[in-house]
Amino acid sequence: MPNIPNFRIRKLRTWSPGKKSSELIGVDENNNQIKLIDLASNDYLDLARHPFLIEAARQTLEADGVGSGGSRFITGSRNIHQKLETKLAEWLNREVVLLYPSGFQANLAAVLALTDRHTTVICDRLIHHSLLVGVKASGAKLIRFKHNNLSELEALLKKSKQINPQKQPLVITESLFSMEGTTAPITEISKLCIKYDSKLLVDEAHAFGVMGPEGRGESFGLQKPISIISGTFGKAFGGGGAFLATDKLTGENLIQNCGAFRYTTALAPPLCASALAALNLIESNPSWGTELREKSIAIRDKLSQMGWQRPAGKGPIISIILGSDELALDYQKRLEKQGILTVAIRPPTVPEGKSRLRLVIRRNTPLKALEVLFKVLKNK
Ligand SMILES: Cc1ncc(COP(=O)(O)O)c(C=O)c1O
Repeated sequence: MPNIPNFRIRKLRTWSPGKKSSELIGVDENNNQIKLIDLASNDYLDLARHPFLIEAARQTLEADGVGSGGSRFITGSRNIHQKLETKLAEWLNREVVLLYPSGFQANLAAVLALTDRHTTVICDRLIHHSLLVGVKASGAKLIRFKHNNLSELEALLKKSKQINPQKQPLVITESLFSMEGTTAPITEISKLCIKYDSKLLVDEAHAFGVMGPEGRGESFGLQKPISIISGTFGKAFGGGGAFLATDKLTGENLIQNCGAFRYTTALAPPLCASALAALNLIESNPSWGTELREKSIAIRDKLSQMGWQRPAGKGPIISIILGSDELALDYQKRLEKQGILTVAIRPPTVPEGKSRLRLVIRRNTPLKALEVLFKVLKNK
């Protein structure tokens, strides 16, 4: 294998060598296969195998087929796309929602729609890779502020306005940070964007369904200066695919000028149907997000009582920063031997020296899993 600089070689591991792919399999201390309880995936609301979603996808699969067979401007647009876009726009109180095959692609599209090579993009240091790829593709100037640091953001906004008073900068943040578990101060960031006349793009990939009022995201209720919100169905919605929510003008620009929307096969109809079913479930269970957050906070409390530094944040992603790759991998292995699947997150996904165990708490995480987790983490 060629030596790739600054890149740690990873092996792809299949977690489901058993008969049922829904069963995650690891190895215990005697090297025997063991069923694992999942404390790693982003299926926060346990919807990926929910009968309501499966039935909705099945019915659409039978009626509309597996794939859409074309882009939205050719033959790909179906009623189910429009239904989902309309319902999401209503739920989020945004003028326009457009579907994309993945969150990665949606983010790329969003950045390209809001920038050109003269734009200054000011983003949180820890935003998702897809957004950085978008900035690079746009040719815009990239400046980063320390994670969630409002005074640094303000200083950069001020400077950008002084250098180029005619050109609106773009601020980018996630709302629930995928690897930190922290939430961005969206209201304060919005106020700064208004003060310095900047656009704002918020990636709510991990937040929808879980954070904000009734799971509608951390930026729900804020209009100006938010230009685009991006979301994915691959996490709390239990499926796949993604969307951008925006105003009419930006939406029209995305439809007419955005290659990532026009020149790609439309989201598979069964995935649209499952996303719509997930949305209906989330809407009719408005307390799911709050309950999950309360559970996650209780786990943070317990970890700090046990002598760990209290993991940052208030949502279902709980990052225990361990420092070295070896230590993070050691905890992953120790938990796997006890039947718990967690994944050590290491550079380049996180900064050097910040390797961690990323725990994901789900709506139906069994108490037993937490007991095992606490037992293993007790032996520091
Ligand atoms: C913050 C964030 N944004 C966007 C994405 C991309 O979403 P998708 O998996 O739908 O491509 C991810 C997925 O890992 C993410 O964590």
